[in-house]
This record gives sequence, C-alpha cells and structure tokens, in this order.
Amino acid sequence: MRLHVNVDHVATVRQARRTDEPDPVRAAVLAELGGADGITVHLREDRRHVNDRDVRLLMRTVRTGVNLELAAGSDVMTIACELRPMTATLVPERREEITTEGGLALDGDSGRRTGDAVRTLHASGIRTSLFIGPDLAVIDAAAALGVEAVELHTGEFAEAYKTVHTRDGRAAVQQEVTRLRRAAAHAHGLDIAVHAGHGLTYENVALVAAIGEIEELNIGHSIVSRAVLTGMERAVREMKDIIREARHAALHGE
Ligand code: PXP
Repeated sequence: MRLHVNVDHVATVRQARRTDEPDPVRAAVLAELGGADGITVHLREDRRHVNDRDVRLLMRTVRTGVNLELAAGSDVMTIACELRPMTATLVPERREEITTEGGLALDGDSGRRTGDAVRTLHASGIRTSLFIGPDLAVIDAAAALGVEAVELHTGEFAEAYKTVHTRDGRAAVQQEVTRLRRAAAHAHGLDIAVHAGHGLTYENVALVAAIGEIEELNIGHSIVSRAVLTGMERAVREMKDIIREARHAALHGE
C-alpha cells in the first residue's frame, strides 16, 4: 500500500503570514526521505494554500510522483495538461468550504463537466482519478468515464470514528468500514485502482489500511499536525542555541 503525503497544510501555515516559510517543496523532500510513496497537492482555484510556483517546483523535485488534485473546469486544468503529473485527481471544489467536503457527483452537469475533464486529461496522457463517495452507483459512473482510479472519500468514516468509544459509535464505524470495503471490492472488480483519503489519522487509519483492495492512501492534515508537535522540541532548541550563542558572542566581544 502506497502512502501519499498531502503537503497542502504546510502551505496553509506559510500563507497565514504570506511569507516564504514553511516551504511545501522542502516538506515534500523530507516526506520522501521519511518514506512517502508520493506527494499530493491540491491547487485550488483560489490558491488559498498551494500556489503555481509550488506545483511547478514539486514537478521538478519530487522523485516519487505528484498527485495533483484539481477541480474540473478550473484554470488548473491547463496547468495539469502542461505539467503532466503522475496522477490528476478530480475533486469537487467550493470556495466557502474549509476542506473538500464530499465526493464528486457524477450525474447531470457535474457528470458532464467531469467527463470533459477526464477526456482532456487523458488527451495529455495523464492517469486520472476521481474523488468519490464509497457508493457503488458512483463507482459505475466513474468506470463509464474510463478513469484509471477512484479515490474513496473516507470523511464519513473519519467522522464516525470520533465516537468509536461509544456503542453506537462502534456500530457506525463498522458500517462505514463495510461501505468502504464493498466500494473498494466493487471498483477493484471493475479493474479500477482504488485510493482512499480524507480525515485519516494515526488513530483511525488502521481500519482503512486493512482493506486489501485499497492500494494508496492520501493523508495530509494529521501528518502535518504530528510533524508540528514532533518537531517542536528540536525547533525550540535550535532557536535557543542561536540566541545563546549570539548573547555569548556579544558579552565576550567576539
Ligand atoms: N484526498 C483528497 C482528494 C483531498 O481533497 C484531501 C484533502 O485535501 C485529502 C485526501 C487529505 O485529507 P486530510 O488532509 O484530511 O488527510
């Protein structure tokens, strides 16, 4: 099973100050050194975290492969076709959302827009994945569009997992795992590669990682959150060393 690390939230911290650190491109190098099998970024239409410069640099520096998440019909389609990432994952995008809230609906207008985007990406030779809910009818619609992969949205599973310590919560988690299992088996049976992601954490990931047909997980928020905490001690120590040395030099006229 591959782990793709989503570095969007490294860029979110940078954008909080509109400065140049932390750099998601540097974070991607470290993620790869840590064993990441791929780097995922979502270039949103509003460029709220990752920007064009990040994606262009990632395409030149990532050694595993870039999974570029984008919305059908956005200007990012042109960038994807130019840069040709290892995989493009089409996701629904709404400006007012904090994060990608649901999977793609593949009926009506959304289905037509997604179909056009799949054809455009395929014309540029890009492996294409669709971010969808664990719903058999939507998987069938994805198969009809000829995509190479689907990414199953694990948000509802992750939400259910928050109450896993209660009896009702355990039952709800079990139900969501069964949904994911069935969806993964269905997509696999249609010869579509199965990815999964959204809301996966150090606590809940094991239940999803145990589903054999899922070959790739995309995880961002929880890994970036853990990195902030596990890196804090060292970061403070390094700042203190600089301060101490500067004070020492000043006092001793160096
Ligand atoms: N997969 C997709 C398609 C996403 O949009 C996101 C969130 O950007 C993720 C995975 C990662 O979700 P999280 O940050 O909750 O791990």
